[in-house]
Amino acid sequence: MTSADIDQIVTHPVPERLLKSPDFPTPHVDSMEKYKAMWKESVEKPKEFFGKLATDLLSWSKPFQTVTHGSFEKGDVAWFLEGELNASYNCVDRHALKTPDKIAIIHEGDEPDKVRRITYGELLRDVCRMANVLKSLGVRKGDNVAIYMPMVPEAIVGILACARIGAIHSVVFAGFSAESLRDRVMDSSARVILTSDEGRRGGKNIATKRIVDDALRDRETPVEHVIVLRRTGTPVPWENDRDLWWHEEVAKARTFCSPEPMNSEDPLFLLYTSGSTGAPKGILHTTGGYLLGAAATVKYIFDYHENDIFACMADIGWVTGHSYIVYGPLTLGATTVLFESTPTYPNPSRFWNLIEKHKITQFYTAPTAIRALRRLGDEWVEGIDLSSLRVIGSVGEPINPEAWDWYNEKVGKGKCAVVDTYWQTETGSIIVSPLPGATPTKPGSATFPFFGIDPVILDPTTGKVMDVVDETGVLAIRQPWPSMARSVYNNHSRFMETYLSPYPGYYFTGDGASRDKDGYIWIRGRVDDVINVSGHRLSTAEIESALVHHETVAEAAVIGGFDSLTGQCIHAFVTLKPHIEATEDFLTKELTLQVRKIIGPFAAPKRIYIVNDHPKTRSGKIMRRVLRKIVDNEHKQLGDISTLADPSVVAVIIEKVHGPV
Ligand code: WT7
Repeated sequence: MTSADIDQIVTHPVPERLLKSPDFPTPHVDSMEKYKAMWKESVEKPKEFFGKLATDLLSWSKPFQTVTHGSFEKGDVAWFLEGELNASYNCVDRHALKTPDKIAIIHEGDEPDKVRRITYGELLRDVCRMANVLKSLGVRKGDNVAIYMPMVPEAIVGILACARIGAIHSVVFAGFSAESLRDRVMDSSARVILTSDEGRRGGKNIATKRIVDDALRDRETPVEHVIVLRRTGTPVPWENDRDLWWHEEVAKARTFCSPEPMNSEDPLFLLYTSGSTGAPKGILHTTGGYLLGAAATVKYIFDYHENDIFACMADIGWVTGHSYIVYGPLTLGATTVLFESTPTYPNPSRFWNLIEKHKITQFYTAPTAIRALRRLGDEWVEGIDLSSLRVIGSVGEPINPEAWDWYNEKVGKGKCAVVDTYWQTETGSIIVSPLPGATPTKPGSATFPFFGIDPVILDPTTGKVMDVVDETGVLAIRQPWPSMARSVYNNHSRFMETYLSPYPGYYFTGDGASRDKDGYIWIRGRVDDVINVSGHRLSTAEIESALVHHETVAEAAVIGGFDSLTGQCIHAFVTLKPHIEATEDFLTKELTLQVRKIIGPFAAPKRIYIVNDHPKTRSGKIMRRVLRKIVDNEHKQLGDISTLADPSVVAVIIEKVHGPV
């Protein structure tokens, strides 16, 4: 959007109903003045602010003395240093001891009539049993466990069981291919993998165990055991000395396992994510700071109150699932909804029926889903009782004002707070967002920083702070906050290079952003070679590398084009090795399969163009900027292409993409 577009945007006040209705709790932060005062304290006196918050929201087995230590320059950020706590104790025990019958997890199965409710008391027993199983297999504090599971309660049990014994979990999204899973298992030296025979999603079976088998086939891996949950009952191949049935193992295990006291800075989990270059990095999160960030944002950004039913639609394989299905809600003792299906199965009313059925109070999804459902027509959302909702959230990519308005009007009925929440795997929890009872919203803007976050917009070339209205620069953060990532697993220098060295003294997000005249932050998308397709983060370099691994391909250039449904979509331009005799149709199918196989189905390019040459500089660098403009229909404004080695390539590519002129 241009600044003129931004000026057209209507500002929405906080809905009256949230502030005044006797049926609803008073919001934790109920005015902009209060937000501003709290934010000011949080960045000016972080020790006082977060020291108090960490005492209020978390239970420590040994109190911390130093709230925060370290700096971006040195890359040694640490929070609550001497403190000891256990994440599973915080998420389960302390609630199970007080309110054992409270529902911790509502599992809405793939089929709408399959609902499971798990109380805190049951969750404690399940987590303890699995923790004991892991221990009996020799898993110890600091060991790694990979989790490759569908959206079933046992996935949460697995995560918390690791946390209980101090094992570092690394959840791999079950849409990743065997090769991607293998890379992650190797990088993290996982000793055990938790999986299921199959998954179920949208009425289809997903062969999780077979993918694990493929990932481990024929090569040396660190994996000693695979624990397999029986989900569908379909027979699966079995390796006797490696594979174990989940139900058989837990049946043998005791129902109590004492939680391992962890230092606040001990690792809690790894989550692999794509950057601009090289292999995916294992983003490392630690215990105390991460847990505090997850819990505090559920409390303030979703305005969580006791007895709320919290529903985040993300997959547990992404950070959103970690923070807003598992750790955030459970730390607060909430009831969290785990949704196994898709927004359109068995029909496009699924989300709305889910809200009505479980009387959901906070609902959190992604712009792609909102856009897709909006397209399918209002009749799917009309006539369903959504009056339980107070806060509806969006995450993963910029939300366009049309989608925001539809979400606000059709889902929120103009009576809910809409929170456009900006954050990243690396930030651990939301860092820019409105607060439901305080912030007037502007559709398309994530508005203002959360507590402890001091954002700045930097000039990308000079690195100087830009104090100009509506000018886009790069978004950076001025000081450490509790839930930020601490490192890249086994590669701290990569952590420094990617986030802390580009602009010394700042954390660099990789996103472009601007501030409008009222101080609202507008996120403009990535400034690096990361593409965001339906909120899934992909690296152009990774897709290019998958393509050039195909025997026919000489060189590949991948770019993100605009897509009105998925936000961005992948376009690949491929040149072939000499003497390849195959039809274009056959090759594009082959290459699509190649990407699905090496990365996963969600990374498949929307279009693959076989071309004779790429637009290159004289030094041989592919000018992706030119390709980007061509696919986005901006090739009338290509700018200066005289620096290209062969400018005639451009016309050929335009014709390839848009047809003969
Ligand atoms: C990237 C992080 C952590 C949430 C899930 C994605 C983009 C995320 C927004 C938003 C505009 C957003 C950014 C960011 N992004 N939320 N509300 N508005 N852009 O996590 O896979 O680590 O991706 O998603 O580009 O850098 P992720």
